[in-house]
Amino acid sequence: MQLFKYLQSQGIGTRKECLWLIENGCIAINGVLYSNPHSTVQPEEVKSLEVNGESLAVVPMPYFYILLNKPAGYETSHKPQQYPSIFSLFPDHMRRLPMQAVGRLDADTTGVLLITNDGGFNHRQTSPKHKVPKLYRVTLKHDADETLCTTLKNGVLLHDDNESVAAADAVLESPRILLLTITEGKYHQVKRMVAAAGNRVEQLHRSKFGNQTTENLPEGGWKFIVM
Ligand code: URA
Repeated sequence: MQLFKYLQSQGIGTRKECLWLIENGCIAINGVLYSNPHSTVQPEEVKSLEVNGESLAVVPMPYFYILLNKPAGYETSHKPQQYPSIFSLFPDHMRRLPMQAVGRLDADTTGVLLITNDGGFNHRQTSPKHKVPKLYRVTLKHDADETLCTTLKNGVLLHDDNESVAAADAVLESPRILLLTITEGKYHQVKRMVAAAGNRVEQLHRSKFGNQTTENLPEGGWKFIVM
């Protein structure tokens, strides 16, 4: 692949900007400086990328999958209204690449959020047909007992929804901590389900999406994952 095209695909700049960077000796790949504008690279062999001596994250091609440990106070949107966008947590060159979150987390929700440029993957993960389990750690406003779990597992009717929705699993870790697994991703689903069951969500953390967890990832931290 032409080096300038590769750099474009990494979000480094336009064709003209990338050619300029190469010709001016600003680009090093795997520690080797490239100054010939006709240079080529094998994308799968690129392990490190430096622009003007600054090391940049190498974005896998053609598809990439990111696991973000979303902090509170960020909106899952490219056009946030009130808080900064989750995309502001990524380096500049990556923010120029087209990418979408796999479903949404509310601004005050923390935990596992997947981000990708693979539309097919995104659809499969979010479609209710595929029943991908999502595990939430819910801090409740009021003490709860087993009745809450039974109600959620039997199904509750959400306000403005005709169908009842049931938890795939619901376990109380303590009277105020509920571990809730759902397989859909309706708008404010956990908060609405808990409200419909007579309690209230004080804090919400997604501990797991499919097999992905935030283990060893600090809040606001992210990594590329292989799917
Ligand atoms: N359910 C909610 O209510 N909020 C979230 O952020 C995710 C699931």
